[in-house]
Amino acid sequence: QENKFQAIISHAKEYGFVFPSSEIYDGLSAVYDYGPYGSELKKNIRDYWWKSMTQMHDNIVGIDAAIFMHPTTWKASGHVDNFSDPMIDNRDSQKRYRVDHLLEAHAEKLEAAGKKEEADAVLKKMDQLLAAEDYAGLKDLIAAEKIVCGISGTGNWTDIRQFNLMFSTQLGSVAEDADTIYLRPETAQGIFVNFLNVQKTARMKVPFGIAQTGKAFRNEIVARQFIFRMREFEQMEMQFFVRPGTQMEWYNYWKEARLKWHTSLGIPAEKYRYHDHVKLAHYADAALDIEYEFPFGFKEVEGIHSRTDFDLKSHQEYSKKKQQYFDNDVDPATGKPYGNYIPYVIETSIGLDRMFLLVMSHAYEEEVLTKEDGTQETRVVMHIPPQIAPNKLAILPLLKKDGLPEIARELMDECKPFFKCFYEEKDAIGRRYRRQDAIGTPFCVTIDHQTKEDQTVTIRYRDSMKQERVHISKVKEIVLGAIA
Ligand code: GAP
Repeated sequence: QENKFQAIISHAKEYGFVFPSSEIYDGLSAVYDYGPYGSELKKNIRDYWWKSMTQMHDNIVGIDAAIFMHPTTWKASGHVDNFSDPMIDNRDSQKRYRVDHLLEAHAEKLEAAGKKEEADAVLKKMDQLLAAEDYAGLKDLIAAEKIVCGISGTGNWTDIRQFNLMFSTQLGSVAEDADTIYLRPETAQGIFVNFLNVQKTARMKVPFGIAQTGKAFRNEIVARQFIFRMREFEQMEMQFFVRPGTQMEWYNYWKEARLKWHTSLGIPAEKYRYHDHVKLAHYADAALDIEYEFPFGFKEVEGIHSRTDFDLKSHQEYSKKKQQYFDNDVDPATGKPYGNYIPYVIETSIGLDRMFLLVMSHAYEEEVLTKEDGTQETRVVMHIPPQIAPNKLAILPLLKKDGLPEIARELMDECKPFFKCFYEEKDAIGRRYRRQDAIGTPFCVTIDHQTKEDQTVTIRYRDSMKQERVHISKVKEIVLGAIA
């Protein structure tokens, strides 16, 4: 599985999905750039999410808030005081680690060495100590496990202390007047501070949701596992505002709706599981992760949080501006309108880059094929769900002559306003098919001499490699049918 993960990382680079950031300067840790196919795939995932939220729910609207926000936002949200992780430094290696990551990595090593019980015991103990904020105990655990971080020695550790994960910068050009502002560590707060703007201008009635996608920044310490944990990443978040007392009903609704979104892409349900939070964040009265089985194990891809009225209430307190909603529906218990209240919130929050890695993990296959002469070959194929594949259709004239490119170009012109097409006339057809397999193009169409006679083309399906003859006028419909 570790090999598979390394293969995915190499493949992502070789085929223009993901590059290390500023690679000519040897890259920047935990920051990545998306290449031609990567940026298409990322955009398609974002669009698929956006459509499912704002188009398929008439009570959800979108916003696009700024990355910079008034600094008091982060006081109110609790991020200035609470958005920190316990860290420890290793004096020998001069490296800093997040305590939980350090112990998790250690447990993974134990498990890989066949010591599953010991690994579980370490994780259990860690959870208890973290919940109790017992930092001396955590330091003792690290010492007792003789964690040395890949260098010899006993592990010369400092005490554990809290380290805030927000990046800060200055607003304004004169240093003395400058105000410290933060790069947002989540997109959610841009939704909360706009709650009333949106509710009033879009005339929304509770229950309703506000969706947003955009960049978020966190100074993650042990940023590892490729694009799984990044310092600059993108979130797709939706805050659903509900009447107090109905939050568990909506929590359960979104828990199911979000898993359905994942499986609607054709990703098998058994690769997912829910993980209920035992230790709740300062704002939550219930929370769970949707986890996916990545090549390195089950890990969080999305969080569903019942955030109570914590955020709106806190913004009301700090801004001194009422964040109430007037509900004129009649409460059957009293026979009167529900009246004024601060809504409760159910949040769904998924990392776009993490979803991208999920799609890559699901899609990547090194398929062994037996050729007609009995020998074997391997084809690398990306089974990217057609709805989000970077290219939907490759149009390939068999030869660069005899009028075949002209017919192919006509088909391009017909299809490209509707979905992303790719045109190629160089190389043997087999090699062209393989390249499309490697970037996950669900359909290839070949134009040959027979096309000139009967207007049929060969359509080849990526996953089955089956080929069939269809009338050229049917191609657009076939592709549209698969990507809707
Ligand atoms: N507003 C709630 C919130 O931000 P979170 O659990 O901290 O909750 C939500 O983050 C999602 O954002 C995670 O499930 C994950 O997919 C993604 N995410 C968080 N930190 C990330 C990072 N450093 N790199 C990539 N994705 C990240």
